[in-house]
Amino acid sequence: MLTKAPKGTRDILPSEIYKWQAVEAAFMNICNSFGYKEIRIPVFEHTELFKRGVGDSTDIVQKEMYTFNDKADRSLTLRPEGTAGVVRAFIENGMASVPQPVKMAYAITCYRYENVQKGRYREFHQFGVEAFGAKGPEIDVEIISLLELFFKHLGLKDLLLKINSIGCSTCRKTYNDALKAYLLPHLDRMCGLCKERYDRNPMRVIDCKVDVCKEIVKDAPALIDYICGECQEHFEGLKAGLDNLGIQYVVDKSIVRGLDYYTKTVFEFFSHNVGTQGTVCGGGRYDGLVETCCGPTTPGIGFALGVERLLMEIESQDIKIPWDNCIDLFLVTIGKQADDFCAKLVFELRDAGFKVQKDLMARSVKAQMKSADKLGSNYTMVVGDDEIVSGKGKIRRMNDGSEEEIDLSEIKEFLKGI
Ligand code: HAM
Repeated sequence: MLTKAPKGTRDILPSEIYKWQAVEAAFMNICNSFGYKEIRIPVFEHTELFKRGVGDSTDIVQKEMYTFNDKADRSLTLRPEGTAGVVRAFIENGMASVPQPVKMAYAITCYRYENVQKGRYREFHQFGVEAFGAKGPEIDVEIISLLELFFKHLGLKDLLLKINSIGCSTCRKTYNDALKAYLLPHLDRMCGLCKERYDRNPMRVIDCKVDVCKEIVKDAPALIDYICGECQEHFEGLKAGLDNLGIQYVVDKSIVRGLDYYTKTVFEFFSHNVGTQGTVCGGGRYDGLVETCCGPTTPGIGFALGVERLLMEIESQDIKIPWDNCIDLFLVTIGKQADDFCAKLVFELRDAGFKVQKDLMARSVKAQMKSADKLGSNYTMVVGDDEIVSGKGKIRRMNDGSEEEIDLSEIKEFLKGI
């Protein structure tokens, strides 16, 4: 146990971190250009927030949360997603009274006790945005267009955008009656949890992962066929906005999303490369969530994308993320005096912003040259007593072996010029 990470978690190693850093920088960059500012929220929140926000008849709350009591006997939960925490922060920090819309972005870890498989982990990473205060479809279009450009800038192709509308509380009432009438003859065969959901929140049966329930809901009525005039108008506005930007999509009536807070627009970006569910990213509108969490009535919309799944997709599409793994200079030292001299030189060159290394393990010149090679050093210089006396040394370009004699005091200028 001591040498194995817990099931569903993994280390991100120094050899692969550049990919994570590159996609996060690209994401924050595009968020910045759209005016979404980063927010950092706690890893854990009061359990009640997720029960209320995500919904206590969802799989996440019923089966997947990492919940514990702290020493003062408060029930806390590791965040299974980011939206509830951002909504709590929006309310707690009085953001309803600043100019709207309030647009925020995040890059977080999330925790869900799930069956681990390809693309599904217990600790995973999400990039997301949340926007508050705008109720028209324009902002729905904006956040989908943000994703579209993010994928485009990464060089990703062929992610399928699926959209749907799951209406508001008014349409939900009519729909729930129709859904219950459809489910009634199948009730006996449904899983225990769905039998309970039938009365409390029948829509949750639609995204149950149990095979028999999946089979039953295949022919269930679709919510979009029951939406009210206002929700229909919103959906038409969304489609028109996407058409205007030339963003391709399909309407998929089966998307309901696995969290309770959604209203009207829901959407997913889908790919065959990222595991059984295929969802790289999911999101939608949540016009009642701020109120449910005891804040002022405020419309909201957002999405979250799974970073592990994003990287899987990048790999499947054979997109290479550039890796700047080279160092500028490796100083090979001979003897104590040279070693002390170079320690100071390395310190000064690093202060000037160069990537410089020297030996730290009293290794032979040959072994130091090997290290320089392994580290992908662009240049090396051997410094011993002679170089210190003459104040000059030979700087060697590693890719072709060419050498040039320069003053030790001019190394900084030399590196600036390369
Ligand atoms: P979600 O669909 O539960 O939505 O998760 C969003 C994305 O996180 C998924 O599309 C998937 O890429 C990734 N993901 C989810 N679970 C796992 C897992 N166990 N392992 C790896 N990746 C996973 C939400 O979380 C909502 N908060 C999205 C949202 C934001 N809606 C509005 N605003």
